[in-house]
Amino acid sequence: ARKVVAIDVGGTFLKAAAVTESGQIVAKEQWQTEAEKGETAVLDRMAGIAKAVSEKAEWNWEDVAGVGLGVPGFLDFDKGLCEMSPNLPWKNVFIVKEMESRLGVPVKFENDANAAALGEAWVGGGKGHRHMIMVTLGTGVGGGIVIGGKIYRGANGMAGEIGHLTVEPDHGELCNCGHIGCLETISSASAILRAAKKRIEKGEPTSLREVGNLTTKDVFQHAAAGDPVAAEVIDYAVHKLGYALALLGNTLNPEVFVIGGGPSKAGDILYKPLNGYFKKYALKRVIEAVKISSAELGNDAGVLGAAKLILGSS
Ligand code: BGC
Ligand code: NA
Ligand code: ZN
Repeated sequence: ARKVVAIDVGGTFLKAAAVTESGQIVAKEQWQTEAEKGETAVLDRMAGIAKAVSEKAEWNWEDVAGVGLGVPGFLDFDKGLCEMSPNLPWKNVFIVKEMESRLGVPVKFENDANAAALGEAWVGGGKGHRHMIMVTLGTGVGGGIVIGGKIYRGANGMAGEIGHLTVEPDHGELCNCGHIGCLETISSASAILRAAKKRIEKGEPTSLREVGNLTTKDVFQHAAAGDPVAAEVIDYAVHKLGYALALLGNTLNPEVFVIGGGPSKAGDILYKPLNGYFKKYALKRVIEAVKISSAELGNDAGVLGAAKLILGSS
C-alpha cells in the first residue's frame, strides 16, 4: 500500500500528516509557519515537517510515494508555481520544484481550499455528492468547486476564489488581493475577530470586553448568548456569506455546500441565519436541491485532499 505525506500550508500553521492509501491518518504534526521569515525559510520548514511526520509514523523516507501540498494562493499548475498568496508573503515561488529538490520524491500541489474540498468529497461531508461547493472560513475565505466529482480549476487555476467575491462594493475594506469589499474581509474567521475588536476599541457596550485573549469562537458564543454587539458582527458576516452562497448556488446549482474552518463548528448561531440569508437571495429550485452542511473532517480535510493528489494519480 502506498504511503504519502501531505502538508496543508496555512498563514499561521503548517499541518502535516502521514496518510495511507485508504485515507487513514497515521501521524500528524503541526508547526508554526513563520511566514515572516520569508519564502526560503517556509519552504525549508515544509521540508522539515514532511520528514518529521514520516518519522513519527515510523516510515522510511524511501517508502514515501510522494508529497501533496495544499497552498493558499493563486497557482500556475503548468509551472508548479504559486504566483501570489493573499495571506502569505509569497510572490512567484516555484513550490513544486523547490520541494522536489528538498525531498527527492514527487510533489503535487493544489490550492488549499480545493484540497480541502477534495478531502471532504473523498471521505467527508461531500461524500456521495457529484456537485459540491466547499467554503472554508479561516485566515482568508477559501473555496473549492467540485463538479461531476472533480475539482473545477477554470482557465488558469483561479476557479473557486470565492473569498474574493465582491460583496460590499461601495464601502468595503481593502483586501490583501488589492480589491475592496471581498467576502474574506467580512466573513473570514480573522475578519470576524477584527470587526469585534474594532467595536470594543470604539467603546461599544459588549460582554466581549471581559474576555481575555479574544478569539473568533468567543464572538460566536457571545452572539449566541445574546450580546448585541457580537450578534451584529456575526449577523453581518453570515449575511454576506449567505449572499455569496446564493450567487454560487444560482450559478452552479450544487447538491451541497460544505462549510469548513473554525466557525463551521458554531452550530445554530451560524446555520440558522445562513440558511435564512441564502434562501432570501437564491432561486427556489436552487434552494430545493441543496443543503448547507458542516465539514466533517475538521482540520484534516486539507491534508487528506492533498494526500489524494498523490494517491489518485497513479
Ligand atoms: C486565497 C485562496 C485561499 C484562501 C484560504 C484566499 O485569500 O486567495 O487561494 O484558498 O485564502 O486560504
Ligand atoms: Na480554491
Ligand atoms: Zn480580495
